Amino acid sequence: MNLDKVTDIYDLQRIARRRVPRMFYDYCDSGAWTESTYRDNTDAFERIKLRQRVARKIDNRSVATTMIGHDISMPVALSPVGMTGMQHPDGEIHAARAAEKFGVPFTLSTMSICSMEEVAKATTKPFWFQLYVMRDRGFAADLIARAKAAGCSALVLTLDLQILAQRHKDVKNGLSAPPKPTFANIVNLATKPAWCLGMAGTKNRSFGNIVGHVKGVEDMTSLSDWTNSQFDPTLDWESVEWIKERWDGKLILKGVNDVEDAKIAARTGADAIIVSNHGGRQLDGAAATIDMLPPIVDAVGDQIELHLDSGIRSGQDIFKAIALGAKSTFVGRAFIYGLGAAGEAGVTKALELLHKELDLTMALSGETDIRNVGHHNLLEPPVSKG
Ligand code: GLV
Repeated sequence: MNLDKVTDIYDLQRIARRRVPRMFYDYCDSGAWTESTYRDNTDAFERIKLRQRVARKIDNRSVATTMIGHDISMPVALSPVGMTGMQHPDGEIHAARAAEKFGVPFTLSTMSICSMEEVAKATTKPFWFQLYVMRDRGFAADLIARAKAAGCSALVLTLDLQILAQRHKDVKNGLSAPPKPTFANIVNLATKPAWCLGMAGTKNRSFGNIVGHVKGVEDMTSLSDWTNSQFDPTLDWESVEWIKERWDGKLILKGVNDVEDAKIAARTGADAIIVSNHGGRQLDGAAATIDMLPPIVDAVGDQIELHLDSGIRSGQDIFKAIALGAKSTFVGRAFIYGLGAAGEAGVTKALELLHKELDLTMALSGETDIRNVGHHNLLEPPVSKG
């Protein structure tokens, strides 16, 4: 795949849409119910206006920074995305390798296709592991122990998906991994020869972290029914203590999008919060994360490191999140489109695009070090409120 003419994340999205089987492309691309939060996540970034500064001596620039004490080449980590290995064969390994070479963290989802042990074998640096807490707490404890044994250097605990919201396309497509041999799937797969060939060449075709450990995975007919039967809806703030007793490394809490919750999260002793609405995939009607970031920064920004995800498609978006007080960002769809388009090279391309856009945006804002970017780079009040 020649990526020379790819100039932004949306180009990668268009290629991914052609190459990835429909049910997996749709899975990644959808939001919950009316998709109003999904849309607002990106729209809200557009409403924020930057100050254009000139004649500021911008020759030597750096977007390098840190996340939970780890040095990173730019303020971006790859979000955990379920079934990444269905966007591209062995997708988690491709994405982890691209992230490792680029110097940004990769986060493996509990619901990944390649297991954490497979990813550890295929990479040379520690990655992060995202945990969903299952009803079977013995299995949840086991996942934590396996993440430790695999050398993971941070645990990302997702708090906003103990039950799954509905994404209509997943229901209509009969989402499952691997896809069921229905007429519609066979017809669609016939148009994706490269994907089929790649899948024929790997044994990673189901949920690698949980197959053989939890029942109903091999013959899963409905991801949502399975999730609702396995994920623990009793998860509460005391469960964070339960996790901390088993995980003594860095802990990131993902899925906070409310000031009260942020205050509680900051008191848990976790290392960071990801301000997230799960990419608009859970509570439809929730506020865009970039709109919630300022009040959350005001409430807890001096107590805990804040990261942001949901809606980031460009370096300009990353710059705005940093200006509003996030230490760093996570991207999900932005790298998944690259992966679906061209595997590891596509993820690298996505990271290169974000890096270049971030660097140029910083320069045109008159800044040379991402660590100095702040509110002073934003036009306030905004010229127009959409
Ligand atoms: C899982 O994280 C999902 O959003 O489906």
